[in-house]
Amino acid sequence: MTEPLKIAVAGLGTVGAGVVRLLAQNAELLAQRSGRRLAVTAVSARDRKRERGLDLVGAAWFDDAVAMAREADAEVMVELIGGEEGVAQAICEAALDAGRHVVTANKALIARNGTALARRAEAAGLTLAFEAAVAGGIPIVKALREGLAGNRLRRVYGILNGTSNYILTDMRESGRPFDEVLAEAQALGYAEADPGFDVDGVDAAHKLAILTSLAFGCEVDFEGVYCEGIRRISPVDIQYAEELGYRIKLLATARLTENGIEQRVHPCMVPLSAPIAYVEGVFNAVVADGDFAESTVYEGRGAGAGPTASAVVADLIDIARERRVPTFAVPASELRRIPPSPMKRHQGAYYIRFLVTDKPGVIADIAAALRDEEVSMESMLQRGRAPNLGVPVVMTTHETEEAAMERALARIAKLDTVQEPPCMIRIESL
Ligand SMILES: NC(=O)c1ccc[n+]([C@@H]2O[C@H](COP(=O)([O-])OP(=O)(O)OC[C@H]3O[C@@H](n4cnc5c(N)ncnc54)[C@H](OP(=O)(O)O)[C@@H]3O)[C@@H](O)[C@H]2O)c1
Repeated sequence: MTEPLKIAVAGLGTVGAGVVRLLAQNAELLAQRSGRRLAVTAVSARDRKRERGLDLVGAAWFDDAVAMAREADAEVMVELIGGEEGVAQAICEAALDAGRHVVTANKALIARNGTALARRAEAAGLTLAFEAAVAGGIPIVKALREGLAGNRLRRVYGILNGTSNYILTDMRESGRPFDEVLAEAQALGYAEADPGFDVDGVDAAHKLAILTSLAFGCEVDFEGVYCEGIRRISPVDIQYAEELGYRIKLLATARLTENGIEQRVHPCMVPLSAPIAYVEGVFNAVVADGDFAESTVYEGRGAGAGPTASAVVADLIDIARERRVPTFAVPASELRRIPPSPMKRHQGAYYIRFLVTDKPGVIADIAAALRDEEVSMESMLQRGRAPNLGVPVVMTTHETEEAAMERALARIAKLDTVQEPPCMIRIESL
């Protein structure tokens, strides 16, 4: 057998420790699949004294991970520290400059700097691999880049954040409000103390920006992602959604439109007839619509030591086998710059809920505001009567432009009989 593939690992936390364990536990199998052994020759983390339960005999310890990227006896640098720039970026750049391949699980870094890093790697004839950065154990990067390479993709969408999906699932099952479910998820360790990245959609937006580039051959454009989280979703909307034949999911969607590229992360009502409606709890799923393969669905665990390590190691095997493809499916120098399609131009159907004073003429006023903006109503639900008190009214619309919907809602919000700002949730046709 040829020389082992020498690997330096920066970061020995959840994912780093998972990778070291996987490499040890499946060493023989990996050696067969790689044609050579995969050997950890150098490691770095913040605290050398921390007991990690890992066998690191034979691996040189570096206090300075950037120095390791420059100096370690390794062909591959695995960056598992995290952060959109700072030390993670410095490690990747130093490793590439020193002629080492880079494998990372860092979606924030790739979403922000993926194009530049890919150009740097490809110019040097090196691999930059990030299977673990999107949807953990689901091999979606390889699926888009290689498995579906024969297709012109029409749309890619998915549930890319397990924490948000867990919270929405629990809210639906228990009927409890967002804050209560989030607090419990934090206590159980399913949500971070600072949950913003997850529940405000940023983490999903990072991953979507990467998938978009792979699917459409464009530069990674995180800034172009429209992003809205799940904090405003209430149990009452979840319940109405079910009655109307939908489930609320935090969906990440990318599509090429005549106005540019649409990248959006926001809560959506997805039809109960769509497989993605049944992706629950911490699970992730991605659906890719190709012109020849048509719809393909991928589901699995989007995070955790095991699934993420599985993705990192798949990248390492490709490097060991010298299987090399352009980072984002087409050479990085040929990635196109496609302008983002403004959200105001988005075409879709909408769910709207109002709290209105129960008196004659209210519905007619709302209907008139919709008509004036050429928004056509599809259905309406009004439960119970409470003369002169507040009652909820729920409507769904036919497909319309987002700008028209916004104008109609602004008109409706001004009506005396509308007691609080209307709630609007987009309906996705899948
Ligand atoms: N956790 C997941 O399920 C998951 C899933 C997909 C992708 N990812 C991505 O994987 C990456 C790592 O995540 P994680 O959950 O494993 O993080 P983590 O558990 O917080 O581990 C981070 C590791 O980095 C080390 N570290 C921090 N600053 C360092 C520095 N300046 N120099 C050297 N080492 C440093 C820490 O050292 P100490 O241990 O000594 O503190 C720790 O070992 C992130 O980019 C994350 O987005 C994670």
